[in-house]
Parts: sequence; structure tokens; C-alpha cells
Amino acid sequence: MSGETSRALVLESFGTLPRLVTRPLPEPRPGHTLVRMLAAQVGHLDLNVVDGAFGILPDLPAVPGTTGCGIVLASDSHPEGRLVRINGKGLGLRRDGCWADHAVVPDAAVIAVADGTDPALACSFFSPAGTAWAAVHSVAAVRPGERVLVTGAAGAVGSLTVQVAARAGAEVIGVVGRQAKLDHVPAVAKAVLATELSAEAVGGPVDAVVDTVGGPVLRDALGLVRPRGRVALVGYTAGREFSVDLADFLLADVALLPVNLMTRGKEVAADAERLLAELAAGELNLPIEGYGPDRLPEATERLRTGEAVGRVVLDFS
Ligand SMILES: NC(=O)c1ccc[n+]([C@@H]2O[C@H](COP(=O)([O-])OP(=O)(O)OC[C@H]3O[C@@H](n4cnc5c(N)ncnc54)[C@H](OP(=O)(O)O)[C@@H]3O)[C@@H](O)[C@H]2O)c1
Repeated sequence: MSGETSRALVLESFGTLPRLVTRPLPEPRPGHTLVRMLAAQVGHLDLNVVDGAFGILPDLPAVPGTTGCGIVLASDSHPEGRLVRINGKGLGLRRDGCWADHAVVPDAAVIAVADGTDPALACSFFSPAGTAWAAVHSVAAVRPGERVLVTGAAGAVGSLTVQVAARAGAEVIGVVGRQAKLDHVPAVAKAVLATELSAEAVGGPVDAVVDTVGGPVLRDALGLVRPRGRVALVGYTAGREFSVDLADFLLADVALLPVNLMTRGKEVAADAERLLAELAAGELNLPIEGYGPDRLPEATERLRTGEAVGRVVLDFS
């Protein structure tokens, strides 16, 4: 394979966008697998790395991209030609990641995927599926017949949370921040605009909230939960902070609980894999927007502004 070239998005300075460069094909090495990338996710975590705003950052220059999907070209541990997804082991954080035609990754970061699975789905399902499952079942512990409010309900985590909660037997209300997203809330939920959020609009108190948005949306949603209800907090795209009157908080008697996929990843791995099979079979839905690597600026902008619907993925096929 010597002499062959490969494209990679290379980050040279935090706070700028990676540049698409052509460079020599990376060499396979022991304990590592050479993967021909087909798809790589652009996620909020990746943007935090690009911005230099995450607790673990690579030495620069570096190739971002914490999750990808591709074909094994060379490996001591994984069969050549196998469709795999790759993530973990510091990919896109401590070492070069998936925003490239080829990546040499630790064998332990490689997970087999059923042949025929859409690479865009395979590289992007785990975080929303695992988080949705953890939020609904492990943290909010939703029971059949309960009323559950999900914010960011057209987002990747939010829309899967809506579907997982509905399957758990809940009556689901999906909240979105902008009119254009109302039609993207899964049909199993009643869709409500965040600006119109009120006890009346959601039909009375809810038993649980799964909040993927944070900031003022979380503050407003807290007031809709019945005493002894639960709020599972997943994300804070709309704001890292909100203030709470502690006397009101005690009186309301609502538990505010964090959902952390990093600490719960192993616990929900089998459930997330099951959801992948159901997503692949069309029984569940995760919208995906695909962009060529030359369109990274547009892809990141869609994610940053919240205009993207579902997952944003770079297509390297
Ligand atoms: N805790 C964990 O372990 C964990 C795991 C996975 C993801 N997350 C976090 O969960 C959040 C949701 O993830 P996701 O993959 O579902 O993201 P996503 O698909 O981009 O959805 C995020 C939603 O946030 C809403 N939003 C409100 N204000 C926004 C703003 N200023 N900028 C951008 N979006 C804004 C948007 O919905 P509207 O247009 O309806 O407002 C958007 O659909 C992210 O913060 C992510 O980092 C956490």
C-alpha cells in the first residue's frame, strides 16, 4: 500500500476548523487495525475538542472524530473486509480519530457490525441510543402509564428518548425550540414548542422529564413535574447554568438526576446494540444528515446552531 495517499481533516489550532489535507496512507502497526473509513460522526463532543473546550485534548496537529465506521484493511485481531465501528480508547481525544479516509486504531476500539448496516447509522447510533436507554430506564426509571416530557425532542438523543419512553408504556410530550422542528418530533409524542411550555399545554403535571437542552428550558420544565417526580438531565446546549430557589426546590420535591453515558456505557451497551438492530430494521428512527468531508464547515454550523435534525455524519465512502 506504500505510495497510496489518504485524505484527512487535520486540526492545526483549537478554535479553527480542521483542514482537508492529502497525506500518505497510514502504516498498519502491531496491536492496531487499519480501517478504511466510510462514515464518521460530527458530534457535540467533537466540536468541543475542535474548540479546545474539553477536559481531554490531543496534541496538535491532530485528526478529530471520536466515532466512525469502516472496513478493516489490515489487522491481527479483526478479519479483513469486516464492517466495523470504532470508538473509545482516546480516539479523537488523545490520539488521531475518525475524520479521515483511513485510520490506524487500537484493536480494542474496533467493534464488529452486522454486514449491510448503514455506516452512517453504525457510527452514530451508540451515543443517542445508549443515552436514551440510560435516561429512560436507568435514571428516570419510567414506568408504564407515566407521563414523560422530553426536551430537544427532534434531536438525536431526544427523538430516540421519545421512542424508548413510548415503548416503555409512557405517554410522551416532546418539546422543541423552534417551529420548524415540530414536524420532526416522533409521532408517538405530542409536540409542544418550548416558548409555549405550560402545565396547560402539556395537559397537567408530568411524572418525569428527560432534558437534553438545559439552561432556561430545564428551569421551565422543572416546574411541570409532580412532587416526587424525576428529571434526568442529559445535555446543556441551551445553557450550562440556571438558578434555583432552594426553598422552592425543596417544596417541589423533584429529583434532578444526571445521565452520564461515560459512566453508564458498559451498563447499556447490550441495550444500545439491540436498538441498533431495530434502527437498521426501520422499527425505530434516527434521522441522519450526511456531508462530504469538504463540507465540514456546513456540517459543524448545522450542529452548532441546532438546525440539524438528528445526527450529523461525514461521508468518506
Ligand atoms: N450526558 C451524556 O452522557 C450525553 C450523551 C449524549 C449526548 N449528550 C448531550 O446531549 C445533548 C443533546 O445531544 P444530541 O446528540 O441529541 O444533540 P442534537 O441532536 O444536536 O440536539 C440538541 C438539541 O438542542 C436544542 N438546542 C437548544 N438550544 C440550542 C442551541 N443554542 N444550540 C444548539 N442546539 C440547541 C436543539 O433543539 P431545538 O431546536 O428543539 O431547541 C437541538 O435539536 C448535547 O448537549 C450532547 O452533548 C450527553
